[in-house]
Order: sequence, then C-alpha cells, then structure tokens
Amino acid sequence: MTAHAQTLRPARARRSTALSGDIRIAGDKSISHRAFMFGGLARGETRITGLLEGEDVLNTGKAMAAMGATLRKEDDCWVINGTGNGCLLAPDGPLDFGNAGTGCRLTMGLVGVYDFDTTFVGDASLSRRPMGRVIDPLRLMGVQVTAQPGDRLPVTLRGPRVAAPIAYRVPMPSAQVKSAVLLAGLNTPGITSVIEPVMTRDHTEKMLQGFGAALDVETGPDGVRTIRLEGQGALTGQHIDVPGDPSSTAFPLVAALLADGSDVLIRNVLMNPTRTGLIQTLREMGGSIEVLDPRLAGGEDVADLRVRGSRLKGITVPPDRAPSMIDEYPVLAVASAFAEGETVMRGLDELRVKESDRLAAVARGLELNGVDCTEGEDWLSVRGRPDGKGLGNAKGEAVATHLDHRIAMSFLIMGLASQHPVTVDDCAIIATSFPEFMQLMGELGAAIEEV
Ligand code: S3P
Repeated sequence: MTAHAQTLRPARARRSTALSGDIRIAGDKSISHRAFMFGGLARGETRITGLLEGEDVLNTGKAMAAMGATLRKEDDCWVINGTGNGCLLAPDGPLDFGNAGTGCRLTMGLVGVYDFDTTFVGDASLSRRPMGRVIDPLRLMGVQVTAQPGDRLPVTLRGPRVAAPIAYRVPMPSAQVKSAVLLAGLNTPGITSVIEPVMTRDHTEKMLQGFGAALDVETGPDGVRTIRLEGQGALTGQHIDVPGDPSSTAFPLVAALLADGSDVLIRNVLMNPTRTGLIQTLREMGGSIEVLDPRLAGGEDVADLRVRGSRLKGITVPPDRAPSMIDEYPVLAVASAFAEGETVMRGLDELRVKESDRLAAVARGLELNGVDCTEGEDWLSVRGRPDGKGLGNAKGEAVATHLDHRIAMSFLIMGLASQHPVTVDDCAIIATSFPEFMQLMGELGAAIEEV
C-alpha cells in the first residue's frame, strides 16, 4: 500500500481575480511514462528532457529499473540504458505502481508475455480499478493470470514460452488497452494487430515508430484504425523532449477563464489532436484561448496558449469528442458551473473507472458546493451561475477526492470563482501528476492553501 492511503492533506481555495503570469507546465504524463518504458526496453541510450517527475511516472521508472534498465539524471536530462527488446529481467519483488493506471496497465502488456512471474500492486484507488480490459487480450496471447475477484490487483502474470500474436478489436475507447496489446506484441513473434474503432491518444504508435519498431497504421473510410506491429524487432535508444501536459494545462487554463480580468500565458503545450478536445470545447463556450506560435517539436504539435478571463455559455458537448478530453471532464464540469445556461456532457461511461468514479465524485462535489447538476448513467448536466453567487461551501465542508488528483485540482479551481471557499479533503494526491500545481497557481495569484 502506498503512502496516500494514510496522509490526507486538506486544502482550500478562495475567490481570486486577475490571475496573471507566464508559465511552463511540466511534461506530459502519457509521453513521460512511455519515454521511461521504451527507453528502458530499447538497446543503447535514451536521453529524456522535460520529463514529468510526478509520482506516477517515477513508479514506472522504478519498475523499469527492477526489470534491468538503468536510469540516472544528469542535470535536467534523464539518461536511460535499456535492456534491448525481449531482454527484460524478472523483477525480484512486486512492481508497485501506486496510483497509476497507465504505468500498471502498459507494463502488464510490456512484461506480461515474458516466461516468468510478474506481480503488480498499487494503492487503494488502483486496486479498485478493473484490469480485465488488459488481462483479457493477454490471456488470448497465452498469459496465465492470478488476480483478485473482478480481475483487480494484486495481479500476477506469467507468459508462455512463446506468446501467440493476436488481432484484437479494442472494446472500449482506451489508449491504455491499445498500448498494452501493442507492447505485448513487441515480445511476440509475427504480427500483432489492434483494431481501434474510435481513435484515442496515439503516443504509443508514434513513439514506437520513433524507437524503430516495425509498426504501421491504416485508417479505414469509417475512421476505424488498424495498427500492425511486427514483434521481436530491435528498438534503439532515442532523444525525447517531452512537451507540456495538456491535461495539467487544463487547470490553470480554466482558472484564468473563470477569474475576472485574468491574462495568462502557458508555454510549450502539447497540441496533439487526440488531446485538444477541452480547448475546442471551451472556445465554443466563449473562452478566450489564443493559440500562439504553433510548431512541431520531436514529432508532436506544440503551441503556447494565451488565456483571458471570459464569460462562458453552456453548450452540449458531442459524445464523440470524449476520447480527446477524457481526463478533462472534471474541470470542464467546474467551468460549466460558471457558464450561463446549461452544459450537457454525454458519452462519459469511461469516467466511472478512472482514479475514482469521476462522474459520481464530480456530481457530489458540485452539489456540496451549491451547483445545480444532474448525474446520469453516462452523462452529466450542469446549470451555471456566472456570478458564482451562492457557490462554494461557507461551512468549510470538504469535497471527497477519493485519491483522485484531478478531482482535487478541479475543485480547488472552482474555489477561485465561487462566492464561498471550496475545500478538498486532500491535496497530497496531486503530486501523482502535477507536483508544482500549488506553487504555480500561487505564482499566478490564486488563493489556494493547505488547511
Ligand atoms: C492514458 C489513457 C487514458 C487516460 C489516462 C492516460 C494513456 O486512459 O485517461 O490518464 O496514457 O494511455 P484510458 O486508456 O483508460 O482511457
């Protein structure tokens, strides 16, 4: 069990105006996990700058070290010496992924097909999350599984002597499932294919190609993608400069939209189209977000964002946009609480299986802070109060964050525009993805403090 189970640190946010500053957000979490994994697997040296040093990513680094990679930091650069594809070592003990679904599920694919036992453990949040979505395709490849009921952690995987390649249609829009199957394919003879009916973030495909994997992607006329990977090829170390995380950017961005008179510049944000749904949505709601200096960096689209305080209006968010903003719904729900009229968000079933049941956690938090909202099976509607009157919780009752970093950050942002303060029961969990959050928000002028 990792530390967060015991040490809750409550925090409170108060109404703040005119946030201003010029900031740079730490590296993208999805790309950082993959940089450690692929660098740890590839032959030779991988150098990574801009890595997110959040707890989730560092746990992935420890797992790669436990399987034979060496990792060290030279000034601002992480230097990894990988094992070579197919040459991971059996770890001495269980791999502890803490709070991280991405680290855990991708590593299950990466090492699950090896002919030795690997045990996966995590914190209370990760131990509640379904692993069947990754374990099921691994079973088809010949992996033996020991798991808790409902395919929950702790899980032990043991691969066959030679894994069988599969063609797998991903049943839910999940980059983690797609990636786990592809990574299992790296140590499997022949062609492993993944059929992806709805496109999700494509960092695994792009980065594996960068490391030299024989991987190609074909998109059908209906948008269905088929990704084919030839197993057992060589991967070679790379230089990776990790761009800023758009999912972390979402918090100061929404804060700047909501706090009257704000003008904030956020630099070096990843603008991969599989990640920009929130920016599109907030613009449709009337948010002033200027995309400056769009450019290519390390094969990814990157830009700076200038965000100004704006009056938002409610909209209906198309459900097919969900994969490109899946982690951003909690903070979008908070933005909607200050928009004129109603915002309707549909197609949210995947939110039920994140670090918490995010649909329920958001609805309870909004209700506790005076917001008129309705929670459906896979949708949420929010009726906003542009002036923030009556919002917040004057009694200081705290939102339950359920070990979910994005619930904690979203509700702290809510407090910046509410009449009364907003309190969350824990801010320690924020360190899993955005360790600089409190300091950075303070630098912008946001009144957020531990209580
Ligand atoms: C991620 C995929 C998404 C996302 C998570 C990161 C990734 O999860 O929510 O934060 O890096 O592949 P799902 O694959 O479960 O949608």
